[in-house]
Amino acid sequence: TSKIIFDTDPGIDDAMAILYAHGHPNIDLTAITTVYGNATIDNATRNACYLNERFNIGATIAKGAEGPLERDPVGPTVIVHGEEGMGTVLAPQDQAVDIDARPAYQYICERVRAEPGEITLVAVGPLTNLALALKHDPEITKLVKQVVIMGAAFGGDGRRGNVSPVAEANIHDDPHAADQVFTADWPVAIVGLDVTHQTFFSDTYLDELRESAGEAGEFIWQVSRYYLDFYSRKLGLQGCHVHDPSAVAYAANPEWFTTRLGPVRVVTDGPAAGMTIQKTEPGRFHHDGWSDYREQQVCVEVDSDAILDDYRRVI
Ligand code: BDR
Ligand code: CA
Repeated sequence: TSKIIFDTDPGIDDAMAILYAHGHPNIDLTAITTVYGNATIDNATRNACYLNERFNIGATIAKGAEGPLERDPVGPTVIVHGEEGMGTVLAPQDQAVDIDARPAYQYICERVRAEPGEITLVAVGPLTNLALALKHDPEITKLVKQVVIMGAAFGGDGRRGNVSPVAEANIHDDPHAADQVFTADWPVAIVGLDVTHQTFFSDTYLDELRESAGEAGEFIWQVSRYYLDFYSRKLGLQGCHVHDPSAVAYAANPEWFTTRLGPVRVVTDGPAAGMTIQKTEPGRFHHDGWSDYREQQVCVEVDSDAILDDYRRVI
């Protein structure tokens, strides 16, 4: 099993991913660290506490960054995830917010130090907490087992970006942080739109989950209503792409993914801010800013049926 710290901005698909990680036999969801993104940091943290309590997850929760390192904040994605981050599902205002005393980046560093080689960081929101952790204790690069990121987009037509023609939301929200995380000397696997757009929760799939998967199935159906409305009105699709749960699937079953190796960098400013580029031709380019960086794994193909079957089975 992989012992994971799940860094997240819940978030509708984040909530779907948390329940998947919690139930997965290959995963030990030991902690949830929160970050702004789909919602404000306070709403994201309250949502994480709500899920932790309602589904008896038993994870430690640590509260993370309220905004990006350098760029102007983009603000919560109300149009996709609703006013508070989980569509029409509102965590009670008096929800107990039972969190660790340390900020998320410090919690990450200390857990990784305490269990060298054991912890996989799975990050499915803006990468601010991970960048702050790297700054706080650069040696964690040698001590984490792996870093799995849902974010970025490298593909062709239709899977390029989702918040701009070239940028995916998590990277666009904090491009400086993403560039630091991708160029650090630790093993990163990137589960981006190239593969998350290959896997689809159709209306029917979610209806069946509601019928067959008890309280978790009912919750996933409920939380997905707002999301599906966005997908149908804005994208003309009857269902939704499977973003954050795909990162959990990678942590549990990497053999379902085909990856490509090469250093990855992020455009940090200007109209292409948040664009991700992988150098895939070793030795070809000598004008640099590229070759000194570690080769990371970018996912390019996925066995979608395996994910859909596994998600249903686990939930
Ligand atoms: C990513 O952005 C957020 O809206 C989702 O939760 C996911 O992490 C997809 O681009
Ligand atoms: Ca997310």
